Amino acid sequence: MTNVLTRHIEQRDQARLAVALRGGAYEGLRRALKLSPAELIAEVTASGLRGRGGAGFPTGRKWSFIHPQPGQPVYLLCNADESEPGTFKDHYLLKHDPHLVLEGIAIAAHAIGAAKAYLYMRGEYASIARDVQAALQEASAAGILGDHCLGTDFSLQIEIQLGAGAYICGEETGLIQSLEGKRAYPRVRPPFPAVHGFVDQPTVVNNVETLANLSYILVEGAQAFAALGTDRSTGTKLICISGAVARPGVYEVEMGYPLLEALRREAAGVRLGRRLKAIIPGGTSVPVLTAEEAAPVMIDYESMQAAGTMLGSGGMIVFDETADMPKALLRIAEFYAHESCGECTPCREGTGWMAWVLRRLVAGEGRPGDLELLLRVGGNIEGRTICGLGDASVQPVRSFLQKFRPEFEALLPPARDAGPEWQRHGHGPRTARHGAPGDEALRSEPVDGPPDAAL
Ligand SMILES: Cc1cc2nc3c(=O)[nH]c(=O)nc-3n(C[C@H](O)[C@H](O)[C@H](O)COP(=O)(O)O)c2cc1C
Ligand code: SF4
Repeated sequence: MTNVLTRHIEQRDQARLAVALRGGAYEGLRRALKLSPAELIAEVTASGLRGRGGAGFPTGRKWSFIHPQPGQPVYLLCNADESEPGTFKDHYLLKHDPHLVLEGIAIAAHAIGAAKAYLYMRGEYASIARDVQAALQEASAAGILGDHCLGTDFSLQIEIQLGAGAYICGEETGLIQSLEGKRAYPRVRPPFPAVHGFVDQPTVVNNVETLANLSYILVEGAQAFAALGTDRSTGTKLICISGAVARPGVYEVEMGYPLLEALRREAAGVRLGRRLKAIIPGGTSVPVLTAEEAAPVMIDYESMQAAGTMLGSGGMIVFDETADMPKALLRIAEFYAHESCGECTPCREGTGWMAWVLRRLVAGEGRPGDLELLLRVGGNIEGRTICGLGDASVQPVRSFLQKFRPEFEALLPPARDAGPEWQRHGHGPRTARHGAPGDEALRSEPVDGPPDAAL
């Protein structure tokens, strides 16, 4: 299998410039600087590269939206917030091969005409940020980055910015707000960052892994990259396998590789010889697959979509036959309730309510109608929010309930405990908050009380 991203990852001291140069680092940049921005965009478009941050948007096309006015600055933002649960590939690249990412940043900056780029990293990655800073200094001192990169007219200043460790700072407009020193409230689009981005100027936000592909594309050529993978999902993908497997880790596979084969070969199968129960294939924001559903699925955008899920970030979380799915869903729902930025009401309130209802179900305090209530709350979030976090919080709830419903039904009280008619229709939490004093619902407040995020 061809490795595009991890070719040098096991090379000792790969973060040191001299070692990286011996492996061919910055050759892609050298070639890119011989091309005009338009030629470079055409090359990357021809490679079929799609964004690895989750949405899979074509990279060359995204760059082609940048049309600055004369004299107007353009910015490139490299998204290393990496907070999607189950995802740990970007900091793996940054830690083990920082020059590959820095080279990708410089290639992309040349394509869009940016003289300034920011590498926005999750706050918890502080120690990696120090190493990347050292790599950046070495490359700048050697005349590769900074003023007159590789002796050309192209100059690029790269600055590393640490966030405070919030999931919402990975959403591109939340990231821009945070970089501007504001609270990371995502922005309503349009206008899109390509027009009004960082400090209101044309901006491209690209994921670390997306940018790390560029060196290969420039050195080997767009056609060589497009020959990897499938027709519409070209190249390779870093997958992060975690959960109930024998060998969790980050692995590079060619797009179109069978999902279960990756679990078996790369992650050494389900641990303790147990049976596979389910897998979340792209970070917790995407629908879960049962073992049966996962069997024919390939690791590419189209195959995942055909199976009713998404490749997302490539964060694969594996559940074995002993997994307690309601508990797992509660954990996921608590994450979204905690990370909702609170800017829009359906997400701020809804994520908290879903976690609240799941918490009481798991605690054995479920009420008749709770499953319908969860779906109804989810339906009131979906499509009604400013950013994708709202929708992301609903996907696991809907898919877990649909695919593992008996486990959730087992948590409901038997029919004879069903309580008054109005409770059976699932108005519990709402009535509990708005009912008159002495109301039955006030006395049966769910286990932990109202979720913080909902207040
Ligand atoms: C709630 C939320 C969190 C996100 N977190 C990340 C992240 O940590 N890293 C990332 O690259 N993209 C993240 N994204 C996607 C970004 O908004 C954006 O699409 C991506 O950085 C674009 O890069 P790409 O075109 O190279 O994929 C997130 C999106 C949402 C809605
Ligand atoms: S959907 Fe959620 S996270 Fe996104 S802006 Fe609205 S409240 Fe914030």
